[in-house]
Amino acid sequence: MKTILVTGASRGIGLETANWLLSKGFRVIGLARSAKPLDALRKAWPDAAETLTGDLCDDTTYARLDALLAEKDLTLDGIVHNAGALLNKPFTETSDADWQYLLDANLMSAVRLVRSCKSRLNSGAHVLFIGSMGGYQGSSKFPGLAAYSVSKGALSILTECLAAEMAGDQISVNCLCLGAVQTEMLEAAFPGLKAPVEAHQMGAYIGKFASEAHRFFNGKILPVSLADPT
Ligand SMILES: NC(=O)c1ccc[n+]([C@@H]2O[C@H](COP(=O)([O-])OP(=O)(O)OC[C@H]3O[C@@H](n4cnc5c(N)ncnc54)[C@H](OP(=O)(O)O)[C@@H]3O)[C@@H](O)[C@H]2O)c1
Repeated sequence: MKTILVTGASRGIGLETANWLLSKGFRVIGLARSAKPLDALRKAWPDAAETLTGDLCDDTTYARLDALLAEKDLTLDGIVHNAGALLNKPFTETSDADWQYLLDANLMSAVRLVRSCKSRLNSGAHVLFIGSMGGYQGSSKFPGLAAYSVSKGALSILTECLAAEMAGDQISVNCLCLGAVQTEMLEAAFPGLKAPVEAHQMGAYIGKFASEAHRFFNGKILPVSLADPT
């Protein structure tokens, strides 16, 4: 059974990605801070879902993840690093602490995750980052989303750097820059906006991409949006 780690698996796009992968016969390790939805995921897929409750902004989470993989004797065929945080605040009111939190949650989480899991990634594995159209070069930008968009833009460039760094180990790294998807995060950023894509549709797309597309793409930053990006 192939094993894929999905971060942010407690709700929204991450939960739907986890469910799609589990429905296709993958083992999923779901990670998020909320224990209840993760417990429900494990109960729904007792033979294939493992979960870890942890905060990706907390160093101890990575040691606990490593301990879980060691205890279950698991290696990884993929990582879908989907967990992310959003802040919608005017630029002049965005504090250093806000910037640090967004960079920690959206960029440093990816750095720490890949660094800590690298030795457990199988040859042929796919590391997939979930970025945003806000962090895609040349896309339309929105007031209030500077820290979020910059953190996702940095995640895009990390994709290219890691693809070069890990090519020798036959590990592919890609980034999907999502447009609007109907989730709690979208509702917080753009209250009342109706997205053209539901979370379960995007989860299915990401699950399929994570499990297949590294045969065709490596080091790519790909826009996944119905809207004209400019
Ligand atoms: N929805 C959109 O329109 C849209 C557009 C572009 C990009 N995206 C990206 O798509 C990804 C998923 O977004 P979504 O809309 O599904 O968001 P969401 O509904 O807010 O879900 C975010 C997920 O990330 C987890 N998470 C957040 N911070 C975490 C932390 N510090 N440690 C561990 N887990 C953490 C949350 O779980 P807990 O709270 O339980 O920890 C939750 O499972 C994000 O990276 C987002 O930036 C979304």
